[in-house]
Amino acid sequence: MVVAGVVDPNAARVRAMFTRIARRYDIMNTIMTGGRHHAWRRLAAGAVVGAPPGPVLDLATGTGDLALAVRAVRPSSMVVGVDFSEGMLSQARPKLARRRETRVPLLAADALALPFRDRVFAAVTSAFVVRNLVDLARGLAEMRRVTMPGGLVVTLDITRPRVPGWDRVFGIYFHRIVPIIGTLVVGDRAAYTYLPESVERFASPPGLADAMRRAGLRDVRYRRFGFGTIALHVGVVAYRPGDVDSFAAPSAD
Ligand SMILES: C[S@@+](CC[C@H](N)C(=O)[O-])C[C@H]1O[C@@H](n2cnc3c(N)ncnc32)[C@H](O)[C@@H]1O
Repeated sequence: MVVAGVVDPNAARVRAMFTRIARRYDIMNTIMTGGRHHAWRRLAAGAVVGAPPGPVLDLATGTGDLALAVRAVRPSSMVVGVDFSEGMLSQARPKLARRRETRVPLLAADALALPFRDRVFAAVTSAFVVRNLVDLARGLAEMRRVTMPGGLVVTLDITRPRVPGWDRVFGIYFHRIVPIIGTLVVGDRAAYTYLPESVERFASPPGLADAMRRAGLRDVRYRRFGFGTIALHVGVVAYRPGDVDSFAAPSAD
């Protein structure tokens, strides 16, 4: 399937890679993280509980696990799942159907050119996505654009731990063991070599927080967990000139 807007050759490679590994993506996550990935997504979902009422966008939803975690904590909100890999979405569909989940519409689209009007979502969530975007600034700008004033932008991703010694152990696990597990479980060494390399190349948690601020988000904060290997960032979409008028009560005059 052709997703309008995906013309960058690096983005096309990322999309082809996720389509290749889609069928074994969930099981690989479970093996690689000792089953912890669901708990991490639940923490990300918990961050949107305080967002204003309204629909949530789960950006690059993949096989839909974060969208489901968000639905669990916001049962009254629709959660739209977008991803540019039809292969990943085709793994999400039966999962949603098995859970009789009817309020998670899925859409094939590019995170860098979202097919939504400005300010329509109460929150935008993403798990293990931002480091895969070929243009982080544009991705964050799109997340901010489609989020309503007062809404939240939430990102969860892997990061290098800082503790000396543990950092080295994690590096050996991630760079040497994970590609072997990827070969055995998914049959795709390249994808699971790309994974640690993409983490290595990506911004540190303070660097990502700065990029979020540059994208216009306010009150950006982050925390690490998973022994310092996972970072959860949350930013608030500020009110802009003109927003106040549209919320103001009618004048008494
Ligand atoms: C590591 S997976 C994460 C999937 C899911 N969010 C999760 O929690 O497991 C990264 C996902 O990002 C998607 N992706 C990467 N770049 C994208 C883009 N520019 N537009 C839409 N989806 C993108 C990939 O297709 C893949 O499904």
